[in-house]
Amino acid sequence: MSDFVSDFWSYYIAAIALAGIVWCVWLLLSQTRMRGPDAGGPRQVDAQTDTGHVWDGDLRELNNPLPRWWMWMFLGSCVFALAYLVLYPGLGGYQGVLGFSSQGELAARREAAQASQHEVYARYLAMDIKAVAADPGAREIGQRLFLNNCAQCHGSDARGSRGFPDLTDGDWLYGGDPATIETSIAKGRHGVMPSFAAAIDAKAAGEVAQYVRSLSGLSADPIRVARGEPVFKTTCVACHGGKGQGNQALGAPNLSDRVWLHGSSEAQIVKAILKGHDSRMPAHEEILTPERIRMLAAYVYGLSAGTPVAQR
Ligand code: HEC
Ligand code: HEC
Repeated sequence: MSDFVSDFWSYYIAAIALAGIVWCVWLLLSQTRMRGPDAGGPRQVDAQTDTGHVWDGDLRELNNPLPRWWMWMFLGSCVFALAYLVLYPGLGGYQGVLGFSSQGELAARREAAQASQHEVYARYLAMDIKAVAADPGAREIGQRLFLNNCAQCHGSDARGSRGFPDLTDGDWLYGGDPATIETSIAKGRHGVMPSFAAAIDAKAAGEVAQYVRSLSGLSADPIRVARGEPVFKTTCVACHGGKGQGNQALGAPNLSDRVWLHGSSEAQIVKAILKGHDSRMPAHEEILTPERIRMLAAYVYGLSAGTPVAQR
């Protein structure tokens, strides 16, 4: 209501609402006055009450007054409507005596929900995060939070897909200790690999790709590997390291293991070199309370704790 730029619409709406109620009361009173000659006793059928309509031989339509119970119910609902409009917002911009607002109610409910959850979380906040990861109750909460907030990208089993990292395999772009996972969730991540199309042509890119494949023992053509190696050693080592082992400070993936974020085929690696990559994990500190982020970090940590890097 208060979104209106001028007061006119506020008054306009208030006037329509009130006029509607007044009209209803007037209609009711005007109809109750058309009573038959007798108020009680057996009804007389005369010219005033008989409308003259007859169906099926002897079924006559009479013009009887409204039943009293109905009339009082109708008046009662008008009184209710007026009382409601005094107490709650409903007349244009008028806020109502009770100061109710749906946003206020939502905020109050959310606060109450968070307060009640706080009790549940308080127990886990006092525990070491690795112990939280092993607690079945905490895992259940973590899984629910994960399904609601993370599954759309990482999959409901957290195993990820092309471009979305598997969180269960023990192989980390940024690091798998609980604190780093918590930072990944709270602050988000932005993995950028620049395009090298200006420096490396398609043929050379294919050769570097062969070298990259050889790093993790995938089938590769030895001649092209030998040609690609010097390019890798000059262009790629800065981020991916001398042996392609990656760099967690930059989120540069380990290229010497069997875990691939964007794919291990020559074409997929050539695409990485020529087009680059730009992957974003959204920050969640604005959406989730710190308590929830900690529960999620514990859950994600627990998914792979003790799991050796998956061999795939
Ligand atoms: C919109 C998609 C999206 C959502 C939603 C999302 N993530 Fe991510 N997440 C990503 C992407 C993409 C990356 C990889 C970023 C990169 O390559 O730099 C990532 C990376 C991560 C990492 C770092 C992995 C590593 O190997 O270091 C963690 C941990 C993580 N996400 C956990 C979560 C959790 C927990 C949630 C739910 C609160 C979540 N993510 C929600 C897309 C998402
Ligand atoms: C400035 C740092 C940087 C340089 C230099 C760099 N990369 Fe990357 N590279 C990254 C980052 C960061 C990612 C992860 C992108 C993401 O999160 O999606 C990546 C991803 C990749 C991937 C995908 C890995 C996977 O698991 O699917 C390949 C392949 C790759 N780089 C190869 C190369 C090669 C070959 C070169 C040299 C020509 C190179 N990179 C140079 C930072 C770099």
